[in-house]
Amino acid sequence: MTPSTAPLHLDTLDARILRALRTRENGISRAELAEELGVAREAVWARIEELRALGYDIEASPHQGYRLLAAPDLLHADDLVARLDRSQVIGRDVRVFQETTSTNDVVEKLARDGVPEGIVVIAETQTRGRGRLGRTWISPRSRGLWMSILLRPSLEPGAVTRLTIAAATALARAVECSTRLRPAVKWPNDLVLGGRKVAGILLELHAELDRVRHVIMGIGVNVNQTGAEFPPELRDSATSLRIESGGFISRPDLTVALLRELDIDYTRAVGDGFDALAAEWESRCITLGHRVVIQSGQRRVEGRAETLDADGALLLRTQHGRLERVVGGDVTIEKNQ
Ligand code: BTN
Repeated sequence: MTPSTAPLHLDTLDARILRALRTRENGISRAELAEELGVAREAVWARIEELRALGYDIEASPHQGYRLLAAPDLLHADDLVARLDRSQVIGRDVRVFQETTSTNDVVEKLARDGVPEGIVVIAETQTRGRGRLGRTWISPRSRGLWMSILLRPSLEPGAVTRLTIAAATALARAVECSTRLRPAVKWPNDLVLGGRKVAGILLELHAELDRVRHVIMGIGVNVNQTGAEFPPELRDSATSLRIESGGFISRPDLTVALLRELDIDYTRAVGDGFDALAAEWESRCITLGHRVVIQSGQRRVEGRAETLDADGALLLRTQHGRLERVVGGDVTIEKNQ
C-alpha cells in the first residue's frame, strides 16, 4: 500500500534522545535536551546512563552538554527508528530480538494480527533460519543481518516477483554505500561478491487467487563472519562483507542504509517506477546474456537468460527460439559458452 499521509513513527524517549544527539554533532545542553523532549533532566540522565550501559559513548560535559561520540555495533530498535525518520513505509516500526526461530515466522504472526505493512523484525541470531528451496540459512549471533519485513502491496499475485527485484537492487546499493564494493545480482535473488554468495532474499507470499494478502520479505546478509567461521562445506560458495572488504562493517549503518533503499525501491516496484528498477537490476545481473539451466520443482528449463518481463519474471530463450517465463528455481550458469 502506498501511503497517502505523513509517516507515523513510533518514537520512544530513547529514540528521541538518540535522534537529538545524532543531529547535534557538537552536542546539546542538558537543559535544551530536556526541554525539547518535554521531560525532566533527571529522566534524560537516567536514559543516557542506560544507553551508555549498552555501549553508546556519550560525553557529558558542562560546556557542550551531551555529545554522541560513538555507537556500538548493536541493532537497537530505538536507534534504528530514530535514524529512519523519513521512511514512508519500511522501517516505521522496528523490533529486534536476541533470538528467534526465523524472523519470517515472527512477521507471519504479526501479519495475522493485522499489523500494518512496513514493520521490520530483526534477530541477532536465528535457530531455524531458512533459505529458498527448503534450505537452512545459518545465522550466527551478531555476525550478520537477519531481517524480515511485512508488506501488503497492491499487486496481483503474479507480479510479486517485482519485490525480489526491489530487494536485490536496494541491497546492492546499501552494500555499495557501506563498503564501496560493487556486488552483482545472480538471478533470482542472490547477492554475489567475488563469485561467492554474500546475501540472499526469501519472499513468502500469502495470497488468494487474485489478491495478495501479505508478503514477507526475508533478507540475510553475511556481514562480519571471518572465513573460518563458515562451515567447511560453504567456504567455496559463501562469503561475508568483512572478508571481501578487508574490514569490520557496522551492522547498524548497513541496516539503516538497506531500510532506506528498500523504502525507495518498494515504492518503485509497486508504482510506475518498475521499468527503471528493472533496468538497474539488469545492469547488475550476472545471469543475463548467459546460457543457464533452471530447475524449478519438476520443471527443468534451459536457455539463454534474456531479460525481465513487466512482472519481474526471467525470460529465457530456449534452443527452439521460444521465450520461456520463469519466476524461481535453482539456477546454474553454464561456463565456456
Ligand atoms: C536464500 O538465499 O536462500 C534466502 C535466504 C534468506 C535468509 C533470511 S535471514 C532472515 C529471514 N529469516 C529466514 O529464516 N530467512 C530469511
